[in-house]
Amino acid sequence: MGVLKHYKNLLPVNQNTPDVNLEEGNTPLIYLKRISEKLNINLYGKFEGCNPSGSFKDRGMVLAVAKALEEGKRALICASTGNTSASAAAYAASQGIPCFVLLPAGKVALGKLAQALMYGAKVIAVKGNFDRALELAREGAEKSGCAMVNSVNPYRLIGQRSGAWEICDVLGKAPDIHAIPVGNAGNISAYWAGYNEYFKLNKINSLPKMFGFQAEGAAPLVNNLPCPNPETIATAIRIGNPVSAHLAKAAVKESGGEFNSVSDQEILSAQKILASEGGVFAEPASCVPLAGLIKLKNLNRLPENITVVMILTGNGLKDPDTAMTQVGRPIEIDDNPEELLKILCSD
Ligand code: F0G
Repeated sequence: MGVLKHYKNLLPVNQNTPDVNLEEGNTPLIYLKRISEKLNINLYGKFEGCNPSGSFKDRGMVLAVAKALEEGKRALICASTGNTSASAAAYAASQGIPCFVLLPAGKVALGKLAQALMYGAKVIAVKGNFDRALELAREGAEKSGCAMVNSVNPYRLIGQRSGAWEICDVLGKAPDIHAIPVGNAGNISAYWAGYNEYFKLNKINSLPKMFGFQAEGAAPLVNNLPCPNPETIATAIRIGNPVSAHLAKAAVKESGGEFNSVSDQEILSAQKILASEGGVFAEPASCVPLAGLIKLKNLNRLPENITVVMILTGNGLKDPDTAMTQVGRPIEIDDNPEELLKILCSD
């Protein structure tokens, strides 16, 4: 039924809010049996790649677009490492309004670029990193009157709280640890706010520890210092100066959690483990929490038998190029049953 309808009592919607809906939300919370056994925890992945544009961004975008329309705005603008732009472009298309997206030139996964172009957005490649593109987009929004739909738009983070509500609705409680990748730092803040809201409503009786994970080359929150030249294979979180850094720090501190970083190699290895031992194909940025949990386990810093939920923020199909660097090629055979049989009996 979509996030706006499902959680209408918890969201700032009223009879004047247009009914924007791409059937986002209600994504699967998948128990990862084999990986759980390996890590000695109960590990769930919330697969946000099942959202209509293939990432968690749709949860907040639906509300941001509905409120923009309610306020009389007639065009959207955002900067993005790829997923925000795909999401904004999808909702703009569904409403018949223009969408301008600013991307760091040459640093966006091909699937995400294809999405924005297919949905009909005006795609602008900025010769600079995401942080610069965001500054340009904010200035453009102010001067043009376009609705700014990055997570500086408060409705984005309010809509994203729905992820936390769904987890609690399904589990009947909050997890012990909530593990999440951190880029511009909005999502970790939204989840923390969502859990707190459910706690105040007595829908859960404990709060999770918030564990934020970053890539080593783009780890401003781990190092507590902006990073002028962020670099990582996980292009979705190639961000050096997160706009919601203050909120993310508060979430980690208040919950008794922590920030940790992992190397690109650890991210790629976690992506392969998630796919080949979990059956879930998520994009590299989404695999940063699993890489982090494995690292903590190896350091003997992961308690046993606890419930951990990690947010698998985006679909692996968005970035096949990176995946293909990590796997072999298909075995080619002639149209010949004998050749096939040789392979079937060799393992
Ligand atoms: N995972 C994925 C797949 C993302 O696309 C992003 C952010 C994050 C994690 C981090 O979330 O920014 O709320 O801390 N992507 C943004 C974009 C920046 O433009 O699509 P965050």
